[in-house]
Amino acid sequence: MPTSIDLSNRIALVTGAASGIGRATAIALAAAGARVVASDRRDDDALRATLAAIAGNGGTAIAIAADVTVTAEVEALVDAAESRLGPIDIAVHCAGVLQEKPFLATTDVDWDHVVGIDLKGVFLCCRAVLSRMVPRGRGCVINVASELGYLGRAEYAPYCAAKAGVIGLTRSLAREFAPTIRVNGIAPGPIDTPMLSAQYMSAETLVKEKQIPAARFGDPAEVADTAVFLASDLSSYYFGQILGPNGGAYMG
Ligand SMILES: NC(=O)c1ccc[n+]([C@@H]2O[C@H](COP(=O)([O-])OP(=O)(O)OC[C@H]3O[C@@H](n4cnc5c(N)ncnc54)[C@H](O)[C@@H]3O)[C@@H](O)[C@H]2O)c1
Repeated sequence: MPTSIDLSNRIALVTGAASGIGRATAIALAAAGARVVASDRRDDDALRATLAAIAGNGGTAIAIAADVTVTAEVEALVDAAESRLGPIDIAVHCAGVLQEKPFLATTDVDWDHVVGIDLKGVFLCCRAVLSRMVPRGRGCVINVASELGYLGRAEYAPYCAAKAGVIGLTRSLAREFAPTIRVNGIAPGPIDTPMLSAQYMSAETLVKEKQIPAARFGDPAEVADTAVFLASDLSSYYFGQILGPNGGAYMG
């Protein structure tokens, strides 16, 4: 990142920080000087590996586990984060899940699982952090959506619906809380993380994922750099914008 980005004296909360984009974002924010609260569903070896990477770079981070679908856990996360490190200035909501399934086979449970994490989880996190940021008159929220929120994709209806919802949520909150709080989003294209693997996607879908102008998957650090920019004063005139590190997959 350009050396002009300095986030020292800022406290950043990152969800989904045990893996992929969330981990890279936590590391990048800490490298820019922020003190980081790295959160994921469980405080396990994966989340500890994020802390170790940050400490290895000379940064400061703590781990707090929370399931983003549970209101009480999200509220407790923000309370604990603020009592241990101080008021949250930056919140990046990366926690997410993906499911490939024909629409007519999609059950109520499938829908609630995906939309519960990918949309309701972002709602709960936004409400928890904004309720603290608004009285202080400062803060910055970044929600991670997806290019699929614009494009849609066969056999990914709950995910695409949730991500389109995150875009609408982000723009609504940007209007409601401007000018004191900046709310923006990121809609990545295919990024090389555990989400983009045979665990979640058929081999056929994975091949299609690379058929984009960049002809490669993105690196999580390329999304993290976007988050650092949106968290910094360099983006002071950005409100309700959905930035797209997506290899040209979507050019909206
Ligand atoms: N990888 C991609 O190609 C891609 C593309 C567009 C958008 N995204 C979005 O980026 C975000 C990060 O994805 P990623 O690729 O790093 O995936 P990932 O699977 O590597 O990481 C997702 C993280 O979210 C956590 N998580 C899942 N459910 C949770 C819950 N209920 N509470 C708390 N944490 C929970 C997981 O434990 C995991 O650590 C997601 O919102 C995803 O939809 C990813």
